[in-house]
Formats: sequence, structure tokens, C-alpha cells
Amino acid sequence: MMFKKILSLIMAAMMTFSLSACGRTPAGSNSTESRKPVSSEGDASSSVQSETLETADGSTLVVYFSWSGNTEEMASYIAEQVGGDLYEIIPEVPYPEDYNETGDIAKAERDENNRPTIANLPDSIEQYDTIVVGYPIWWHTAPMIIGTFLESYDLAGKEIYPFTQSASMDTEQFDNSIEFVRENADGADVHDGLFARPSDTAAIDAYLSENGLSQ
Ligand SMILES: Cc1cc2nc3c(=O)[nH]c(=O)nc-3n(C[C@H](O)[C@H](O)[C@H](O)COP(=O)(O)O)c2cc1C
Repeated sequence: MMFKKILSLIMAAMMTFSLSACGRTPAGSNSTESRKPVSSEGDASSSVQSETLETADGSTLVVYFSWSGNTEEMASYIAEQVGGDLYEIIPEVPYPEDYNETGDIAKAERDENNRPTIANLPDSIEQYDTIVVGYPIWWHTAPMIIGTFLESYDLAGKEIYPFTQSASMDTEQFDNSIEFVRENADGADVHDGLFARPSDTAAIDAYLSENGLSQ
């Protein structure tokens, strides 16, 4: 009995370690520790909560998924710089507020190559030629819900620009995520992505201007 208790304590400690050992603990000034509340009214993204996207200038969509706000910060900045419409992917089943619980769900989703359902999927994104797609690195690649979004449309002829950031800023994980976007964006031209911290506006500006995306 005692042995079992000790064993489960050791296992719990190992799990906590493995979660932080791969650079998963949000660290540094760009990270927030708990999950932001799911978009409330008045959010920048609230105008596109319905299934029909309202088009401002009609050509660039900045779409993002963010669990704790860092990608959201980057996406808002990018939308401002490119003059695009901002749309937040909201999962039908919200991820828990707890980091480790979200970690476990996200890992299972990745291992099973799941496509979690999106609550607010736009009917059409036909009006956009350019799609800038942002996400955090989850388990060394993009969150599976990015695959859900990309697979929902005919993306032939679209220009896609991925952007991401993570706790470790490991470039191999970034490369994996770009590969994931390419695999899921059938027919689109997926450009080399941006891997920068949300606070690094110099890197973001440089990327946007190199790719002719700045206003
Ligand atoms: C489920 C989950 C998995 C994560 N996996 C990784 C990972 O594999 N590598 C890494 O460097 N950071 C990982 N992180 C850390 C996030 O990439 C980092 O906290 C990021 O800034 C979160 O962006 P967000 O605020 O837009 O959600 C993970 C975070 C979560 C919640």
C-alpha cells in the first residue's frame, strides 16, 4: 500500500517535470500564467464571432488561436500593421484553465491527429487572398485546431503566412509547425513563417515588410 502511494507520488513528480522539461512552462515577460477568459463582448475579435466575417478591406485575414494571450497580442499587432480583419478561432469545447490539464488534452489531440471542432467557424473566407495564421507551439508543433481551420476551406490560390511563438523558441518545433500548416493547407502557397516573441515588434515589422504585407 505504502509502496503504491510512493510510486504514484514519484510518477506525479515525473509528469510535472516532463511538462516543464520540454520548455512548456510559460516563462519570460511575454508569457502569462493562466488562461485568458474566452473572448468576451468588446474584444477586438467580437465583430467576427458570428459565422459571417465582416470585411473591412477585403483582402487580408489575420486568424489566430491563443490559449493564454501571447498569440493574440501578436495577432492584434499584425492586423493593425497589415490593415487586415482579425478573427479568433474559438474551440467548441474550451480548453481547461489549468495548464497541465490543457497539456494532457493537447497531447492526446496531437498523438491522435485530432481536429477539434471550432465554435465560430466562418461560413466562407473566399474574400481573402492573403491569410496570416497565428498559433502557439503546442507539443512541438501547431495546435491541432489550426488543422481544423485550414481543412475547412478550399485554399487553392491563397497566400498563407504562418506566425508563432513559444516558451522555448525552439526552431525545430517552429519548422514542425510550418510543415503541419503546409500539410493541411491544400493548394495554398504557404510562405516561410514568422517565429518571434510578441514583444519583438522589430522582427514582426521586418517580416511583414519583407513579405510586402505592411500597409
Ligand atoms: C498545451 C500546451 C503545450 C505547449 N507545448 C509547448 C512546446 O512544445 N514547446 C514550447 O516551447 N512551448 C510550449 N508551450 C508553451 C506555449 O507555446 C507558450 O506559453 C505560448 O506563449 C503560448 O501562447 P498563447 O498565449 O498564445 O497561448 C505549450 C503550452 C501549452 C498550453
